[in-house]
Amino acid sequence: MSILFEPVRLGELQLANRIIMAPMTRSRADSSGVPGSDMVEYYRQRASAGLIVAEGTAPSASGLGYCRTPAIYSAEQIAAWRQVTRAVHQRGGRIVLQLMHVGRAASHHNKPVDASTVAPSAIRARVQLFTDIAGLVDADEPQALTLEGIAGVIGEYRQAALNAREAGFDGVELHCTSGYLPMQFMASGSNQRNDAYGGSAQNRVRFAKEVIEAMAEAIGAGRVGLRMCPGNPFNDIDDSEPAATATALCAAVAPLELAYLHIMRSPLPSLDAFALARRHSGQSLILNDSFDGASARAALEAGEGAAVSFGRHFIANPDLVERLRHGRPLAGFDRKTLYTPGAQGYCDYPNWQANLEIAP
Ligand SMILES: Cc1cc2nc3c(=O)[nH]c(=O)nc-3n(C[C@H](O)[C@H](O)[C@H](O)COP(=O)(O)O)c2cc1C
Repeated sequence: MSILFEPVRLGELQLANRIIMAPMTRSRADSSGVPGSDMVEYYRQRASAGLIVAEGTAPSASGLGYCRTPAIYSAEQIAAWRQVTRAVHQRGGRIVLQLMHVGRAASHHNKPVDASTVAPSAIRARVQLFTDIAGLVDADEPQALTLEGIAGVIGEYRQAALNAREAGFDGVELHCTSGYLPMQFMASGSNQRNDAYGGSAQNRVRFAKEVIEAMAEAIGAGRVGLRMCPGNPFNDIDDSEPAATATALCAAVAPLELAYLHIMRSPLPSLDAFALARRHSGQSLILNDSFDGASARAALEAGEGAAVSFGRHFIANPDLVERLRHGRPLAGFDRKTLYTPGAQGYCDYPNWQANLEIAP
């Protein structure tokens, strides 16, 4: 497993190992998007990852849309996140924040009353979302963003990147997949605009490119990452040319020298997302999806990327790095408590040593 435990530098981020914790929404913030003490403990426990990418976090009130997901636009939210970054840094870890604007994948029940639901075009996503207030509901009918509105949202991302630095994060990652706002712009099905942000693949990636540029200008490109998954249909995404769209996005960010590109396998069997990103992006790659220790090591040894991220394995294995290092068994997680409030199934998974203590 040796290569997994070698240090690596991604832009301005110096990592102790190549095992990254992938961003995972766990719905443990309060109803105002403020992280609580369980989140401090959860991230503290996982600080031995080379880098933690903290869960999708809204840059603005309009960017919220799910239950109890965090945000980073208010002073209270920034102060609460500072407790998280301090706990991780005290254990020698590194942590960046994933910025997630859900766009049309939202319910107004899950955001402040004065916040709107926006999208590239006024096309409702055919999905349902869970709300604490009304149970399962249809996604909102979104308002199409005006050119002025687009500039405003880009400004929100820029400010969120600054806020993340103020909260002590080592950088930010743009969530550019899973059917959220940047991908709504990128996909031909959800983007029917006739202006500079719609039509050709180059035009459809313009929003993501301008968001990335704004964040890089604000905090330095070496502290900004980009997450993508070519052809991901999640949240009612339909793109007529996913490979061309992904290629256009990679080409658009290639001159920027970002910290990394966090690339997920494509669900389309004909599309090799890792190869596409290597060919067109020129960025250091974090590879993701369905890796275990052996396959992660093989991918890095084959030169496919600079690091590998793990999502689900980190849920019940806070000490995943140590378990992989020593070849220890990995624990499974409880699906029922993935998104429920409270510590149960969140920050109460023991590390391997603790398991030993309770073993007969
Ligand atoms: C509970 C859960 C929440 C997730 N939330 C996010 C998220 O907020 N942002 C994101 O980009 N991906 C999210 N993902 C996807 C993971 O980051 C990762 O890509 C996925 O789990 C595949 O990696 P794995 O096979 O190592 O688990 C989530 C996955 C899970 C299981």
